[in-house]
Amino acid sequence: MEWKNIAWEQGDGWAQITIQRPKVLNALNRETLEELEQAVGRAEEDETVRALIITGAGDKAFVAGADIGELRQIPSSWEGERLAARGQALFSRIEELDKPVIMAVNGYALGGGCELAMSGDILIASDKARFGQPEVNLGVIPGYGGTQRLARLVGKTTAKYLCLTGEMITAEEALRLGLVQKVVPHDQLLEEARKLAERLAQKAPIAMKYIKKAINQGTETDLQSGLRLEAAFFGLSFDTEDRIEGMDAFLEKRAPRFRGK
Ligand code: HXC
Repeated sequence: MEWKNIAWEQGDGWAQITIQRPKVLNALNRETLEELEQAVGRAEEDETVRALIITGAGDKAFVAGADIGELRQIPSSWEGERLAARGQALFSRIEELDKPVIMAVNGYALGGGCELAMSGDILIASDKARFGQPEVNLGVIPGYGGTQRLARLVGKTTAKYLCLTGEMITAEEALRLGLVQKVVPHDQLLEEARKLAERLAQKAPIAMKYIKKAINQGTETDLQSGLRLEAAFFGLSFDTEDRIEGMDAFLEKRAPRFRGK
């Protein structure tokens, strides 16, 4: 499949989606959202893809937000709500993908870009990355999950501070807040992301799927319900061939070969 605003690369157990609209710092217009939906679908279906990397093209931006030129043309509250719901559905699909998603944040991750980054499972940031929810400066509010995921990730008051001021934070500050898991020198970002993706590609795919489900669903509920979910997913992982392989490999002192079965 050929896309205009997205590049697809594939390596040893991983795929990489690169958002590329260099003239507008990779801002997300509707066409790019649609292509991203298709590319995520491809990653979802391809069994050889065991980890997905999402990044932005160029040295400056991951994604500088929704395309403001396009937002300006939205004629009504109903159209605005529809666009928000569409992006939210896509970002939730990324969050709930059966395989781990690494966000390699290579520069500005603002507005919809910060929201896209927050839908990933593991965020690696270049030391040049900047995060923020500047929608308030445009007279609107975050619409692709920013008020919700940011508050869940960094807490209510810090989320309010960031959304109300529209202030940008550095990669180091994002690390301190727990928004990203690792900061690396800019020119090593993709190498680090791919090394991590290759490591994840060696892990048991079904166990990774259940880990994501247990954490995603469990953090949205009370502790006892979350523990019940964990026990249920733990049980399900015993129905797999991979758990026999993993345990045999340990007992036989060799590396496991997981097949996702
Ligand atoms: C459209 C954008 C853009 C965007 C940058 N550009 N961000 N175009 N939508 N989100 C364009 C600029 O207009 C400019 O075009 C070119 O990209 C380079 O950007 P500059 O501003 O010249 O670069 P610089 O001075 O280095 O500043 C970088 C920046 C700034 C700090 C990232 O571009 C910026 O503040 N961008 C907007 C960030 C933002 O508000 N994002 C939130 C969008 S709302 P020209 O033609 O002049 O070269 C959102 C809502 C999501 O995301 C939910 C929707 C439902």
